[in-house]
Amino acid sequence: MRKRLVVLTGAGISAESGLRTFRGNDGMWEHENIEDVCTPDALRRDPKRVKDFYNFLRKGLPEHQPNAAHIALAKLEERLGDKFLLITQNVDDLHERGGSKNVLHMHGDLMKLRCTHAGHEFEFRGEETMDTRCPICGSPVRPDIVFFGEVPLYMEEIQDALRNCDEFAYIGTSSVVYPAAGFKSFAKSCGAKVTCLNLEVPENDPYTDVVIEGKATEVVPKWAEAFE
Ligand code: OAD
Repeated sequence: MRKRLVVLTGAGISAESGLRTFRGNDGMWEHENIEDVCTPDALRRDPKRVKDFYNFLRKGLPEHQPNAAHIALAKLEERLGDKFLLITQNVDDLHERGGSKNVLHMHGDLMKLRCTHAGHEFEFRGEETMDTRCPICGSPVRPDIVFFGEVPLYMEEIQDALRNCDEFAYIGTSSVVYPAAGFKSFAKSCGAKVTCLNLEVPENDPYTDVVIEGKATEVVPKWAEAFE
């Protein structure tokens, strides 16, 4: 019987597409304060600053193209069908542009806005201003981004998938932001094999069975093609 695979990606998978990761050398959080752009309090205090930050990121996205790692995961989805689930912490659209059909953006989606009244989500590719309104109910809106201190999206669906998978692989993530950082221990405790594909490898991580060190564009296609 075909194995059930759950994959979690982080900023490292988009690094070779030219997008900044968050931590480490020249990471996003070296240039911006989380407290200024990525908390509910920041949105209350200075909504224009927060909206401008995500407008800037959204505007830059079309310059970046999906890389071989995004494309390899899309092919894996095609091959494994409903035995495969892709979860990403990334808010970029490179998985979708790489061909992935079903992606759970647990930290939100740069290409969507959400209304603050009823939580309606809608596709948005332009520049959000203080006057942008929900097309469904006319309420004020915000970026569809999960800020620090907010609960990530799809958690029930993710927990079910982790509980029932045979293998869990995490790719290009520093594994420091919870709850995503806890997926490997949860999957392991439910019986899954845990594989890490990353530029830097975790040291003595009791939850990771297999470590594949290298750039995502080099290691992910090989690993994905060999997955049975
Ligand atoms: P990080 O920036 O914390 O980690 C990126 C990881 O990718 C690091 O472990 C790098 O070693 C690795 N890496 C870098 N280049 C790579 C490459 N070419 N191939 C493979 N791996 C590479 O990013 P995340 O773990 O995704 O949340 O960060 C998690 C969350 O923290 C983000 O979703 C974001 C951030 O604050 C929100 O904004 C809510």
